[in-house]
Amino acid sequence: MTTANLSLDGKDYELPVVTGSEGEVGVDIGKLRAQSGAITVDPAFTSTGACNSAITFIDGEKGILRYRGYPIEQLAEKSDFVEVAWLLLYGELPNTKQLTKFRAQLTYHSLIHEDMKKFFEGFPNNAHPMAMLSAMVASLSAYYPETEDENHEQNIVRLIAKVRTLATYAYKKSIGQPMVYPQNRLNYCENFLHMMFAVPCESYEVNPILAKALNMLLILHADHEQNCSTSTVRMVGSSRANIFASISAGICALWGPLHGGANQAVLEMLQMIDDDGGDYQKWVQKAKDKDDGFRLMGFGHRVYKNFDPRATILRKMSDEVLAELGVEDPLLDIAKNLEKVALEDEYFVSRKLYPNVDFYSGILYRAMGIPTNMFTVMFSIGRLPGWLAHWKELRDEDSRIYRPRQIYIGATERDYVDLNQRG
Ligand code: ACO
Repeated sequence: MTTANLSLDGKDYELPVVTGSEGEVGVDIGKLRAQSGAITVDPAFTSTGACNSAITFIDGEKGILRYRGYPIEQLAEKSDFVEVAWLLLYGELPNTKQLTKFRAQLTYHSLIHEDMKKFFEGFPNNAHPMAMLSAMVASLSAYYPETEDENHEQNIVRLIAKVRTLATYAYKKSIGQPMVYPQNRLNYCENFLHMMFAVPCESYEVNPILAKALNMLLILHADHEQNCSTSTVRMVGSSRANIFASISAGICALWGPLHGGANQAVLEMLQMIDDDGGDYQKWVQKAKDKDDGFRLMGFGHRVYKNFDPRATILRKMSDEVLAELGVEDPLLDIAKNLEKVALEDEYFVSRKLYPNVDFYSGILYRAMGIPTNMFTVMFSIGRLPGWLAHWKELRDEDSRIYRPRQIYIGATERDYVDLNQRG
């Protein structure tokens, strides 16, 4: 199959067909407007591909997720976040020399400019950490301005290294504690936990169970092809906005409760059900009621019409980590009951609404001592290599500026009416 035919107003148009390496088929309508004057309409991009990409493959019907060809299950079990970040960015698993250098660079660049600490002072104590993170990431561009001929690799490293420091400073600010500097002896995840939980008045040893869990959580969130935040990063990057501005835009897009903000929303929902007496059946009924705005957060996905493979890994991991940490969480029981009911209920079954990655990540973060308002920040740290890989792919192919069309449905031409004649 190499072409598709479209018949419009009695005229036939032959459209090229592109096929991906996994057999995905797309009809290339890029020249349709020039040829026919018509555009295609797909407001939430349900059937629209915005680019070719070699980074991540998802088969939502079969529940498959692969980064650069490697199954997410294998990466979660055998790899670590820094190695996965390299894989996403450069397309291959790094050799020992490359990986050692990359780890050293991430350590070397983990400090932020001391002046940036003053920015944190200006925020109110109850500022959401996502507000601080997005502002701080955009502010990095003031310290590392891009030049025409600059190699972006340095800024990619800076972002992955510094995002932990910015995230933990935002948290420390929100609880009124002094900021904790990174330590070069610690690896990527350990350093995050150290900056998050250490206090100057006592020693802090990183719990290896927490470091392992964090590593896996970040791997599972590292990329997910053309989701809302990644598409935002590509959209902003297509205007040649600098890398920090593009990533900051992605962080803002992730914040919404229909996207990365869902992990916070899931926990708040489970807490609300628990506070309400734990009658989860009542909330399932509310989620099914079209006159009720309530949705089961952490259920449903635009792409997965089968189990989200990340949720399957996280469900197992939640059981293991909570047992290892000796944490008993009534919210985990509510989550499991909700999942059971939803998987058997006709409403959820017929709409293929399965638990998504955010359904279990919040339970895990809570067991690790991460406060609820930091959940989406954690997602941002995990998603950063994916955003950067897409930004790099877009720049490397020298893409044109993204510019969707629209069907105008407003008023047709009319004459201006003077104020004194408007009644
Ligand atoms: N609870 C109850 N009903 C739901 C839910 C839910 N969580 N999700 C979807 N539905 C219903 C819709 O009401 C709709 O029903 P209808 O066909 O009778 O009108 C149908 O299922 C399809 O839903 P849409 O909203 O059209 O699906 P869409 O692909 O646009 O949205 C989304 C996907 C945003 C994830 C949605 O399922 C949702 O709101 N889920 C809850 C929020 C969430 O968990 N987001 C995280 C997604 S994962 C991520 O971003 C990392």
